[in-house]
Amino acid sequence: MQDEINRIRGPVIHLGDEMLVSNPMVRGPLRLQLYSLVRHAHITGTTGSGKSNTAKVICSGLLDNGIPTVILDRNGEYAEEFGGKEKVAILRPGENLSIALFSLEGEDREAQIADRLSLLNHFYIVCYNQELSPLQGRVVREALSRHYRGSKETLTVSRLIEVLERLMKEAENRGGWPESIEAAISRL
Ligand SMILES: Nc1ncnc2c1ncn2[C@@H]1O[C@H](COP(=O)(O)OP(=O)(O)OP(=O)(O)O)[C@@H](O)[C@H]1O
Ligand SMILES: [Mg+2]
Repeated sequence: MQDEINRIRGPVIHLGDEMLVSNPMVRGPLRLQLYSLVRHAHITGTTGSGKSNTAKVICSGLLDNGIPTVILDRNGEYAEEFGGKEKVAILRPGENLSIALFSLEGEDREAQIADRLSLLNHFYIVCYNQELSPLQGRVVREALSRHYRGSKETLTVSRLIEVLERLMKEAENRGGWPESIEAAISRL
């Protein structure tokens, strides 16, 4: 009977025990079907409740089943356990992972700059619940155009901040510009 259940269930990762919500009684083992991971899984919990540990258990379970894993490790907490493992790639933003948000390819520079501005606007809405103000949009567009007029090099976020800082110095006497540039910089 158990064999039949296991066959239907397919490979599983043992996460621990499932607890009753009403009292701390163990209800039984908590298993995650590998099949369920072909869709997304989301781990939530208060600080220190065991989210990272659960992610590690899942990663180990994937390895036991020969499934390769990519870990986006913002603060390096997975390096000790999984660094150097054959089927695990650990990517650390700023170290071995960077995304060229403002790269331009091909000819139509203005259209692409408008596109990157729209991306930045979306980032502002998601992170700050606010769009770029029209003036902020204008100064960022000016900074992008200025950079790509003189260079083919991909504009990084830190370089964009430098260009904006230069613009801010130049625009000292233009009504509202320094404030808008400063606001744009502070959100980058
Ligand atoms: N199942 C477990 N059994 C025993 N200890 C655990 C378990 N899960 C986590 N811990 C311990 O609890 C502490 C917090 O765990 P963890 O770092 O996974 O929490 P977190 O939810 O990721 O926290 P944060 O929100 O700070 O990132 C760690 O010391 C960890 O070793
Ligand atoms: Mg954590």
